[in-house]
This record gives sequence, structure tokens and C-alpha cells, in this order.
Amino acid sequence: MKIYIIGAGPGDPDLITVKGLRLLQEADVVLYTDSLVNEELIAKAKPDAEILKSAGMDLDEMVRIMADRVKQGKMVARVHTGDPAVFGAIMEQIALLKQEGIGYEIVPGVSSVFASAAAIGAELTIPELTQTLILTRAEGRTPVPELEKLKDLAAHHCTIALFLSATLTKKVVAELTEAGWSEDTPVAVVQRATWPDQLIVRTTLAKLETDMKEHGIRSHAMILAGWALDPDIHSNGEYRSKLYDKQFTHRFRRGVKA
Ligand SMILES: C[S@@+](CC[C@H](N)C(=O)[O-])C[C@H]1O[C@@H](n2cnc3c(N)ncnc32)[C@H](O)[C@@H]1O
Repeated sequence: MKIYIIGAGPGDPDLITVKGLRLLQEADVVLYTDSLVNEELIAKAKPDAEILKSAGMDLDEMVRIMADRVKQGKMVARVHTGDPAVFGAIMEQIALLKQEGIGYEIVPGVSSVFASAAAIGAELTIPELTQTLILTRAEGRTPVPELEKLKDLAAHHCTIALFLSATLTKKVVAELTEAGWSEDTPVAVVQRATWPDQLIVRTTLAKLETDMKEHGIRSHAMILAGWALDPDIHSNGEYRSKLYDKQFTHRFRRGVKA
């Protein structure tokens, strides 16, 4: 007995994996996060599938429904936005399902962090500039652990991707500034990445707060910050990867003799 936890991707219904789509189309019961998953994707379920929205349900209700249906011998697909492993709140569902003797299989999805990077045409790890990407959130009503305060994470001066932080940009700017980030640090905000009304705002740390207000961005937004977001980062030939360097040999390519 198991349920399938499927990553739906960021919005565009074509961005689910082939395996995720196949399972969605086979499922007898589809429980999906209606606030963030595209209805067009859910419409691909079988015509007689039971379709349920999770946004109005509490945890116990969701688990009870999934457990009941699995015990009736039905195939259940729990569809989450992006990739279920990032801010998906899946472990609490899994723990309760386990108590009912129900297992699970997770099918990954395209997270909004990568959909947003693609939307702005960016690489988040630039050779010799930054080789680290931190996925986190600003602290609001939901606390973050003491050792993960944004100002401490920002001490690495790497690329930072902020989920669930659209209304907390004042705090974001204060903490990054405290960590020594300059006012002109590039920031890109992507709201509703891959949806038809996707909005991209390229700004700087100094102007982030004003630009968020000006564009009325308060939800469903990915904030990407750091010098990797500078669209001109390669314009002077700096920061080239070793992978394609003529002098750098590796298993698949011999070096070019000088
Ligand atoms: C509960 S989290 C879920 C994240 C999801 N598991 C993922 O991998 O993208 C919701 C947050 O993800 C981000 N998000 C989800 N979909 C997005 C999209 N299409 N465009 C931009 N940000 C998105 C926003 O920061 C939003 O507040």
C-alpha cells in the first residue's frame, strides 16, 4: 500500500516529468495543492478520477482521505507544486500515513527556483565567483532556526534563493546589508514563473523594497540574489568554467597542445 507524491513543476503544465504525468493519468484519486498547481495539469487525470483540493483541508483531513482511498485499493496521487522536497510539508503527511501502514514514492518536479533561473536566463553558480546556492526563506511568522538566520547565511556571499519571502523584503535587505552585501548587488524577482502572467523584475538590493511595492508583488514570487544574477557577469571574459577551458583535460576531452 502506497501513495505517490508527485512534483507538478512551477506552473506550466508541460513542466511535469514524464513519470509524474503517467502516474497522474493512472490515478483513481488526485489530491492537489490548488493554490499553486495548474488546473490544466489536473485536467489530464482520468475522467472518472476523484479530484480533491487540499488548500482548504487540515493535515488530519488530508491524511484520512488518502489513507481511506488507499485502503479501498485505489491509486492515490498527491500532487505538490514545484519539487515536493522544498517547502513541500510532505514529511508530516508521510509520518501519519506510515502510522496507517501506508508507504510512499516521491516523483521529483521542477522547483520554482530553477524555473525562475531559467526564466531570467541565469546560471546560479558562476565559476570562481560562487559555487554555492542557498535555498531558504526570510523569517516572518514562521521562525527559522537560530543557526540559519539570513544574515549568517549571507556571510558566504553566494547565490541566495528566497522562497515565501515576498512580503519580507525589508528584512531581507537589512540582513543582507548587515552581512556586507553592497547596495548594487543584483536581485531578480520572478513572480508566477512559467505561468502566462509571469512577471520578471530585475533590481538591486537598494531598490528591492521599492520595486516590490511598485509592481505589487506580495506572493508567489522567487527572489534570487547575488552577483551570479548580474546579466553582464561574463562580459569581460572573467569567470570562465574549467570544463571548457582548452588547457583543462578531463575524461571526455584531451587537452589542446600549445
Ligand atoms: C510552499 S512553497 C513551495 C515550493 C515548491 N515546492 C517549489 O519547489 O517550487 C511556495 C513558494 O514557492 C515559490 N514559488 C512556487 N511556485 C512559484 C512560481 N511559479 N514562481 C515563483 N515562485 C514560486 C514562492 O516563493 C512561493 O511562496
